[in-house]
Order: sequence, then structure tokens, then C-alpha cells
Amino acid sequence: MDNFTYYNPTKLIFGKGQLDTLPAQVKQYGKKVLLIYGGGSIKRNGIYDNVMDKLAQINAEVYELPGVEPNPRISTVRKGVDICKKEGIEFLLAVGGGSTIDCTKAIAVGAKTEIDMWDIVTKKKQANDALPFGTVLTISATGSEMNSGSVITNWEENEKHGWGAAPYTYPKFSILDPAHTFSVPKNQTIYGIVDMMSHVLEHYFHQAENTKVQDRFCESILITVMETAPKLLKDPENYELRETIMLSGTLALNNMLNMGFRGDWATHNLEHAVSAVHDIPHGGGLAILFPYWMKHVLDEENVSRFKQLAVRVFNVEVDGKPDKEVALEGIEKLSQFWESIGAPTKLSDYGIDPTTLEQMADKTVVAATEYGNFKKLTREDSLEIFKASL
Ligand code: NZQ
Ligand code: ZN
Repeated sequence: MDNFTYYNPTKLIFGKGQLDTLPAQVKQYGKKVLLIYGGGSIKRNGIYDNVMDKLAQINAEVYELPGVEPNPRISTVRKGVDICKKEGIEFLLAVGGGSTIDCTKAIAVGAKTEIDMWDIVTKKKQANDALPFGTVLTISATGSEMNSGSVITNWEENEKHGWGAAPYTYPKFSILDPAHTFSVPKNQTIYGIVDMMSHVLEHYFHQAENTKVQDRFCESILITVMETAPKLLKDPENYELRETIMLSGTLALNNMLNMGFRGDWATHNLEHAVSAVHDIPHGGGLAILFPYWMKHVLDEENVSRFKQLAVRVFNVEVDGKPDKEVALEGIEKLSQFWESIGAPTKLSDYGIDPTTLEQMADKTVVAATEYGNFKKLTREDSLEIFKASL
């Protein structure tokens, strides 16, 4: 593996009733709080009222930014930045999923600079500061609660980019109560499961040697999520099952699994291109694209990684079969698993037809002409993968 330094300053506060710690956590950073949330789920499931009660305990002066969209938009980030500057906000509290948290990260940085946030998201300019922020996670999926990444969409330009400004964009704390995810609807639960598995898979496909511990970490999370997901979908208010999935989602993308190497991340680049043009759910896009990316990049040189995944995670029997056959069986089992839990399998499931494939392919090479760390891909590869996924 490569040399590395691991640093993750987010305080993870996990378990039943952990919202009780909110007043003490927020108090350290100030009284003027901007509460940021999505389209209203937290009002329906009671989390909003509980959070407001906790903030009242420290006499916080609470401002609100509701309405963060799934696939959060730069226009909403700008709105939040304006509130912070106008009101002298001292602390941001994101209550929601990856979209709310990612939006909050961008607002935190935007509040401390005169640079327009889109220039920072598109990496034309750099961030050197941010307001402190914390999160109360309500859906298990992205890992944004314990990483410094953020994904923001510019709907006017049909662009969606990942960015980050460590250490400023790490949450100061994240409160994870699995009971907060009881109300997540079935489709969003499925997307979250696909997303966390995809994060593990992005890590798994890398070029480094001697990653035995990391491989086993990845495999154990994949196996655990696959054992748990079907039970959870039948029993969505089961605390233990939500707990297992919640911890899996966080560990899948807090950079612990990729100590000493860089994962691939081509499929995320492909998915971001699709959802920039079509505004589809991130996890839904990944379920469609990941198996096609796998089939596209599989070759003689890299087959051993696919074979290891097939044998260790999907229990494919080797039985003297050629490596490629074993690898393909593993990919097929992954597709079958996602289909079995109700994930989409084709871009046409979202009404996407051939007319936008070229536009989406263009989007995959906006940041660089080649992408993917396991295998380098170009615009032509993107187009082939999109065509296969139709
Ligand atoms: O908006 P509300 O009304 O809150 O409803 C949300 C939303 O409709 C709902 N929801 C969340 N918690 C709920 C709930 N409904 C009922 N009960 C609850 N407890 O779920 C819907 C989806 O929420 P969202 O935050 O969009 O989901 P997710 O956490 O999957 O985030 C997706 C975004 O994160 C980005 C994606 O690209 C996408 O924009 N990603 C961020 C990453 C990161 N920062 O590290 C990495 C990921 O790969 C990903 O790209
Ligand atoms: Zn993802």
C-alpha cells in the first residue's frame, strides 16, 4: 500500500437517544444557529420538534433554511450563505441526509469567503476557512456525516460536482440515532443501501498491492449489508437492523477502508453525469451503472480482483472455471442482489432514452479528459457504458 496519514476530526455520537447530547455540542460553538433541512420529512417524523427543544435548552437563536433538494443546488447554497452573512450565524446544524449535509458544507465555506461557491465547487478557487457545523443524520447512505466531501448541482448548467475542503468541511460532530431512520421510505432505504455498497466497491477496485486488511474490511461490510438489507426492507422499524445499516453507511465512506490507496470512483463520476442531466436519485443511478462499469473494465490484467470479490462476497464456486467466468458470475450476483431488493436496473427505468447519452458523456469529462483510478476511462468509454445501461 502507499504511505498515508489518516485524520478524521468528526466526533461520531451514535445510538438511541443521542440527540440528548445536542445542546452540549452546539453550545461550544455559539448561540446563533442556522438550522438546515430538506423538504419536510423532519417535520412529519417529529425530529424537527425534538431538535428545536434541544436548541431551546441553550437559548439558541435559531434561523432556518428549509427546502434543501435531493441533489442539492448551488442556488440553495447561495441562499444559505446570504443568511449567514446577514445574520452573523455562528454555527450550522444540518438535520437530514447527504443532500442537506453537503449543502451545509458548502454554506459553511461560503459564509467565510467572498468567492462564489460555484468557483470553489468546480475547483477554480480554494477554500481556506468555514463556519463550524454539526449534523443530525436521518438517512443512511452517503457517509457525508463523517467525511469532508460534498456534491453540489448547478441546475442551470446541468453540472454536478464533488468537492471538499478538508479539514474545514468535516462536521464537528454527527449524531446518529438509528431510530431517526425508521421513517425513511422503502425506495430511499434501497438507494441508501446501494450507495453504501457502491462506496465500498469504489474502494475495492484499486491498484495498490498488499491491502489484505482493507480488502477484508470491505468484504465484511458488503456481506453484512447484503445479509441485513432484505430483512430491513420487511421490517423497517427494527432498531438493530437500522443500526447495522447506519454504521455500515458511515464506515463505507469515512476513508477508513481506503487507508493506503485511492479507490476507483469512475462509477460515481458516471452517475453524477446522469443525475446532472436527469435529476435521478444517486443510489438508483449507481445500481444501474455499477455492473455495467464492471463488465466494461474487466480484462485479463485485473480479473483477479473481480474473482476475489466473486468468491469471497458472492460465494461463486471456482470449480476449475476460467477466472473471467467466475468474475462475470460475481457481477451477475451483484446485479441480481440489487434487483432483488427493488433497485432499478436500466436507465430506461427513469425514462432516459438515447437522446441525452452524448450530453451525459460530455459531463463525465468536464473535470479531466480521463477518469477512474482502477482503469482509466475516456468519453468514449462513458458512452459505451451508458449505451449498455439503457
Ligand atoms: O428532503 P426531505 O423531506 O428530508 O426527504 C428526504 C429526501 O427526499 C428523505 N429522507 C431523509 N431522511 C428521512 C427521509 N424521509 C423520511 N424519513 C427520514 N428520516 O430522503 C430523500 C433523500 O434524501 P437525500 O439527503 O437526498 O439522500 P442521500 O443521503 O442519499 O443524499 C444524496 C446526495 O448525496 C450525494 C449524492 O450525489 C446526492 O446529491 N453524495 C454525497 C456524498 C458525500 N458527501 O460524501 C457521497 C455520495 O457518493 C453522494 O454522491
Ligand atoms: Zn455515492
